[in-house]
Order: sequence, then structure tokens, then C-alpha cells
Amino acid sequence: MVVLITGATGLVGSKISEDLRSQGHRVHYLTTRKSAVKNEAAYKGFLWDVKKGTIDASCIHGVEAIIHLAGETVFQKWTDDAKKRILNSRINSTELLLRLLQESDHQVKQVVTASAIGIYPDDQNGQALRENEIPPTATNFLADVCIAWEEVGAKFQDLGLKHAAVRIGIVLSDKGGALDQMAKPVKFYAGTGFGNGKMWQSWIAIEDLSGIFIHILKNTLEGNYNAVAPHPIRNRPMMELIGKVLGKPVFLPNVPEFVMKLMLGEMSSIVLASQHASSAKIQEKGYQFHYPELEGALKEYLE
Ligand SMILES: NC(=O)c1ccc[n+]([C@@H]2O[C@H](COP(=O)([O-])OP(=O)(O)OC[C@H]3O[C@@H](n4cnc5c(N)ncnc54)[C@H](OP(=O)(O)O)[C@@H]3O)[C@@H](O)[C@H]2O)c1
Repeated sequence: MVVLITGATGLVGSKISEDLRSQGHRVHYLTTRKSAVKNEAAYKGFLWDVKKGTIDASCIHGVEAIIHLAGETVFQKWTDDAKKRILNSRINSTELLLRLLQESDHQVKQVVTASAIGIYPDDQNGQALRENEIPPTATNFLADVCIAWEEVGAKFQDLGLKHAAVRIGIVLSDKGGALDQMAKPVKFYAGTGFGNGKMWQSWIAIEDLSGIFIHILKNTLEGNYNAVAPHPIRNRPMMELIGKVLGKPVFLPNVPEFVMKLMLGEMSSIVLASQHASSAKIQEKGYQFHYPELEGALKEYLE
């Protein structure tokens, strides 16, 4: 099968592309950078410019499924401009794909779009939430973004296509991202928790995240799916486990919430929010996790 991936050059997209190709599939991908365009038999790049609304329509030739991940990083200072870019890059890119599908002859049957567990309320006390348990209104910027992104993504169904949205948790990988940021201070014996350290960290190993996207494709699943491991953990114990695996104990007191807010501004909510998401639905659909427990994932990606 040929799969069109947006964001294929990023942390998540590069892993999914690699796994699809190793399973004999071919990848077309859309990128905003000329320098990132490759033209290999199983990995062909095409240009798009989301701001200008332009796209190389030949990217869709032979494609049966789309994985849409592209979006401006949220790991930057949330100025008003940055917030617009974070939101608009996701909404406008989805609309560009919708327009391409409306205006071209194609064989696409299925679209899987990314979302995030930031859609769930910030709550340290509740049970792990299933996909149908989101609040009726958004409570912060990231939730706003996820809700708007899922709403526009649902329009793929209006075109008669199967659509699934994957609510991604904190992605653990050995190629950068959140784990790298968390492990860096620990390596210098400066590891610590944040705030009261009790926030739920619904993490997922990148191996399983890619596995879930491919499982959804192979089984043409529809609807929303949390991509989080079955055993989330709270912030302080997570940092202590990272210290244990690295052989560098975490002993410093947590950085207080107000210091995090002073340092990071509104963006501190990424670090301080507690999202407890359930993996039950994707498991009920037959997905088996390679890394259900945090220690196994940390040993894989940190040692
Ligand atoms: N990593 C996580 O922990 C995590 C957690 C929850 C949700 N997610 C979501 O999952 C998706 C993939 O995450 P990731 O970690 O792989 O992100 P990433 O490494 O930042 O990659 C995102 C990709 O999106 C493209 N992109 C960036 N800005 C863009 C813009 N303004 N317009 C169009 N394309 C743009 C880039 O591709 P080109 O440079 O090739 O154009 C980039 O490779 C993102 O939407 C992210 O919000 C990630």
C-alpha cells in the first residue's frame, strides 16, 4: 500500500515511515522544505506550503491512506503569534488535504490524523479517561487546539472516507523529544519533579505509537483512540525511575509551580498539566503493547 504522510520528517512521522517501509509499504510525504524532498522508490517527498495553500497534487497518486501529523511545534514560547501558528498550521494543513481530496481523482479510503491527550481536563485525582469522556468545552490553549483539530479532521468522513484521530501521549524515544529533555538534568544529578510531582504522565513508547497508527491502518479503524501505555505514572515517580535506569538518583526537591510559570509562561501547562488517559479502547481493538511498563521503555531508550 502507498501511504501519504504529513510531518514525516518529524519525530513521530520518521518512525512511522521507517516501520511502514520495513513492512513493504511505500511512503509519499509532504514537507515544507525543499531540502527534505527525497525521491526514492519507497520514500518520495512532495512540497506543500500550508500558509500559501499550495500543494503538489501528484503526492496523491496511488495513495490509499493518509497519516496527517504535521503541525508547528508546541515547544516554544506561547506568544500570541506562536499560538496562531500552532493552531493555524494544523487547521490549514487539514483543510488543504480536504481540498486536494475533493478536487482530485484518488484512491484514498482512510485518513488517520494526530491529536493529543491535551484534549482531556487537567485532573490529578480522576480515573483514566476513555475517548468519549472529554469535557464539553475546552479549558486551556492545548485543549482548544486539539478540539479544533479533531473537528476539522472529522470532515474527512463527509468525503466518504474512514477517519480516526489518535490522541498522542508523552512520546518516549531515543531520538529526542520529551524523554531527552527529562533525562538531561538527571544525567548531571540535577533531576527533579515539577510542581507537587503528582501530575499523571500518560506516556507512550514511540515503538507502540507507530504500532498503533499502523494497527489502525491495517484494521481500518474509525473514531478516536488514545495512544498511551496501559500503565501511566505520576511525575515524581517517573523522574525517579529515569534516575534509577540511568544510575543517577533523583534527590532534589521538586521545582515549585510558580517557578515553572515564571520560566516558561503559559507554556508551563505542558509540563504541569495532569492528563490520565486510558489505553483500553485500542487494546480492545487487538493492539498489544511492546512497552506496557515504563521501566521497560526507559531501559530501551536510555541505556
Ligand atoms: N511528540 C509528542 O510528544 C507529541 C505528543 C502529542 C501530540 N503530538 C503531535 O503529533 C504530531 C507529530 O509530532 P512530532 O513530535 O513528530 O512533531 P515534530 O517532530 O515537531 O514534527 C512535526 C512536523 O510537522 C511539520 N511542520 C512543522 N511546522 C509546520 C507548519 N507550520 N506547517 C506545516 N508543517 C509543519 C514539519 O515537517 P517539514 O519540516 O518536513 O515540513 C515537522 O517535521 C504533531 O502534530 C504533534 O503536535 C506529539
